[in-house]
Amino acid sequence: MTFVYFASSNENKFLEIQTLLEWEKRENKENVKIRFSSPAIKEIQSDSIIEVAEDKAKKAFDSIKRPVIVEDDGLFIEELNGFPGVYSSFAFKTIGNKGILNLLANNEKRRARFLSVFSFFDGNTIETFGGETAGHIATEVFPPGWGFDPIFKPDNEDLTYGELSIQRKNEISHRSKAFRQFLMWYKLKYNHHNI
Ligand code: IMP
Repeated sequence: MTFVYFASSNENKFLEIQTLLEWEKRENKENVKIRFSSPAIKEIQSDSIIEVAEDKAKKAFDSIKRPVIVEDDGLFIEELNGFPGVYSSFAFKTIGNKGILNLLANNEKRRARFLSVFSFFDGNTIETFGGETAGHIATEVFPPGWGFDPIFKPDNEDLTYGELSIQRKNEISHRSKAFRQFLMWYKLKYNHHNI
């Protein structure tokens, strides 16, 4: 059986992916087996999350020597000209959710979108998939949730990502959209019996 390794330092992402795969299994859809791995990878600095993801996939493959997928995300806030975008991880570690709310203090325009990019690499083929979810930044922090979950309210929802169940988040999230693209491609590309 072939496993695809999900290389990440973030177990929350893996939990969401696993939940999605379990749901697919219950729907009797053929499943890809994903294993978690967290090799130390140094990310490049780039304006493009696609470039970051593809570089990360190649570095992860060099380390694991197995077919691998990696993910890179960004939260793009319209009123801040796309900030934090490719700097989302740094912004979360430094100013955090409160800092983002301060940047938007008294601002009624709070449109934002979350982008997810998955890159797959098996030593030969590099393939990249994207997902996007639009919404806005809440006016306060609504826990629980990880990362920017407590301040991001997706469109057509009354709750933040953090307040939604993991199942509901998976129905609408940037991550699930990108990951489903990967699943469709992978199942088509590889002989189902070998998955
Ligand atoms: P990265 O892909 O791990 O670099 O993600 C960039 C930043 O966005 C990190 O600070 C993550 O915590 C945050 N982030 C990415 N996806 C999500 C999500 O689904 N919910 C909340 N925060 C997220």
